Amino acid sequence: MPILCYQISGPLEANERSTTGAANGHVAAVIKRDHEEAAAQVYSELAANRLASFLGIPVVAGVAARDPSNPDLLRFAALRAADSHLDIYDFSADPMDEASCADIPPQQGMLRTIAHPTATQQLCAKYPVEAAHIAVFDLWICNLDRDYNFKAELNSPNRGIIFAMDQGSSLLACRSTVAKSLEALQSTDTPSSHPFQSLVDGRLCGQMVERILSLPDWALEAATTYDDTIGNVILPDQYTTYEALSERRKHLGQLVDRILLRPA
Ligand SMILES: Nc1ncnc2c1ncn2[C@@H]1O[C@H](COP(=O)(O)OP(=O)(O)O)[C@@H](O)[C@H]1O
Ligand SMILES: [Mg+2]
Repeated sequence: MPILCYQISGPLEANERSTTGAANGHVAAVIKRDHEEAAAQVYSELAANRLASFLGIPVVAGVAARDPSNPDLLRFAALRAADSHLDIYDFSADPMDEASCADIPPQQGMLRTIAHPTATQQLCAKYPVEAAHIAVFDLWICNLDRDYNFKAELNSPNRGIIFAMDQGSSLLACRSTVAKSLEALQSTDTPSSHPFQSLVDGRLCGQMVERILSLPDWALEAATTYDDTIGNVILPDQYTTYEALSERRKHLGQLVDRILLRPA
């Protein structure tokens, strides 16, 4: 798979101390903060991003970020993918009216409720491994907002780029408050659906379930707990998230059967 690159913005300036031609510059980012509808968005983005990198899930890289003029406000910066020169299908855009295309049969089941049904089918057919892995990861972190939050090259004859972004409605931000989010994370009733439902392969989903089950505790702990408050999330809630994810992965196979492998 081609490497996902991030967008350099603005001119580069020589780095005076570099002996190998390194330059000072800027990489574009989408910068997020805790919000009244997602009180723990920064923590959740950060923890989900670290888990995704341990697991090899294709999400855009992100980092904790601070503006020196407002050092008390911790933010999350999702590095902006350099996708403008590619023929990328933007699942995050408002959908075209697919119903008006005569050659597309009426959609059934879950496909009736998602924003880009035909393109989503194409995506799952072209990138079966990545789609299955992203979907299983979403169930584990209780991501309630995958619809609209991925992009991919659909028309290229060869395998191209696929990436997911915005885990800001998962973990402690899957509901509006930390307490309600923890309740959802500790329950296997949530989520109740996923945009890739019935479009992913059971064997490939099983691969990611196995990978999540074999993730070492130290990695889970390193991704979910910090020695500091992260935005609105205090340390005890970080440890509760660690425990909730540890418990939740034991039920992941059932979640996959119930949500992803259910026929459309
Ligand atoms: N890292 C990224 N690279 C490219 N586009 C991005 C990236 N992050 C966000 N976007 C674009 O910006 C939109 C809004 O960002 P998002 O993180 O989804 O915010 P929100 O939580 O408000 O939905 C996305 O739907 C997508 O179109
Ligand atoms: Mg979004």
